[in-house]
Amino acid sequence: MIYRVKEPFFFTIFGASGDLAKLKIFPALYSLAEQKRLPKDYFIVGFARTPKERKEFQKEFYDSVKNKIGKDLNKKILRDLVEHVYYFTGKYDQCESYKELKDFLLKLSGGKMHTHIAYFSVPPTVFKPIIKNLGECRRQKTDDIRLVIEKPFGDDSCSAEELYHFISNYFSEDQVYLLDHFLGKAGVQSILHLRQTNRILNLLLKGYEIANIQITAFEDIGIKDRVGYFEEVGIIKDMIQSHLLQILAFTTMSIPLTTKAESLHREKYSILSAINVPKKPENIVLGQYKEYKKEEGVPANSKTDTFAAIKLYIDQEEWFKVPIYLRTGKKLSAKKTNVIVEFKKFPFQNQEEEPNLLKIELSPEENIIIQLVNKYRSGASQYETIATSKSIACSGDYCLPEHGLLLLDVIRKNKCSFLSFREILASWRVTEDILNLISKHKIKVNKYDDGSGGPSLQNKLVQNDGFNWHK
Ligand code: BG6
Repeated sequence: MIYRVKEPFFFTIFGASGDLAKLKIFPALYSLAEQKRLPKDYFIVGFARTPKERKEFQKEFYDSVKNKIGKDLNKKILRDLVEHVYYFTGKYDQCESYKELKDFLLKLSGGKMHTHIAYFSVPPTVFKPIIKNLGECRRQKTDDIRLVIEKPFGDDSCSAEELYHFISNYFSEDQVYLLDHFLGKAGVQSILHLRQTNRILNLLLKGYEIANIQITAFEDIGIKDRVGYFEEVGIIKDMIQSHLLQILAFTTMSIPLTTKAESLHREKYSILSAINVPKKPENIVLGQYKEYKKEEGVPANSKTDTFAAIKLYIDQEEWFKVPIYLRTGKKLSAKKTNVIVEFKKFPFQNQEEEPNLLKIELSPEENIIIQLVNKYRSGASQYETIATSKSIACSGDYCLPEHGLLLLDVIRKNKCSFLSFREILASWRVTEDILNLISKHKIKVNKYDDGSGGPSLQNKLVQNDGFNWHK
């Protein structure tokens, strides 16, 4: 049954003039309006520092959605949606602004305090003043307020922990939604659903049966106007710390026995906290695309990695010595995200034969593919692979973009598509192990051609173990 929101709500976007808001949040709200999932009364408030007239913000909202949706736009729906959009000029670090915000909201709703979703679309440097003031300057502490905070949560395990404790001075854990937009992707959700509903598949996804797992997230775009951010973080914090480790956890965890978020979080944590980064430097390959230094603002001596391939293990009996390879990079030949599980061969089998594979494609299309090897009846040593493929993309009228789905989940208090703090902390520890290894061994950043498949050294990473990257 399709879920429609019945109760009115306030939705405040902190950092309403930023790219995240324009490219993801406004279009997500449109998708909810288009599918008639929003109630009669709701109030979208852009909170930002720059003074602006409501009309001007409504136009920005309208234009961002129009640009994003393109020719399929339903102008009437967007015009109606924009009627629910307001603007509030405030200072992130001033208590007074938050008191005024509260009065502003109450005025809009005719004095009723509804569920209030506070969306953090601001750089992490301003998280704290917003959290503090939202917490301290609310007049009634019983308000139903929910904070939505996008990754990156913290900059390392220490700052993540510190931020978490900071938040807990003002809000309880159930009020905080820690968001990684990959969890809103239909394909990522399908990994869990396929595993939970198919014993066959789940029996296959046992460490004992698996030769290796390859998780790839390639992008064809470069860093463009995000140089400032990227120079600070690099590809490992940007992509591996949350997105790829989450995919890894979904693929390898024991399936949760209940549909409760705590069950899912517990199983993912069990994997993330057992990840072992091998200590040898040959287990990491780094790269930087050749044109990176020509991007505006990149220092001439930048060693920032825009590509990384890494081998990891999971320290659990079932996964003993099963290599898990992660690789991700920018400015590569195409955008593609996938998980490929390579199954073991029988010891008596010809080891040169193609392996059996389970592939889960997450982007650009969402498919599940099972590839089996068969022997031609005619030839003694001729083999063919039989592939069976099925789309796992959401189809029909009620599919939502990632942020649309995640916003609905905040409203219906479904924490399954959000991260627990323990998972974030465990992921930071893995990230730190990787970064420490890089700095300890001064691992070289290899140049690679724009539009290529990344540095060729990545092949050695898998070949050292007798494998190849699967296409
Ligand atoms: C973001 C990263 O979290 O995810 C970006 O900061 C990256 O660098 C993006 O491009 C990838 O997301 P998607 O949904 O386009 O695969």
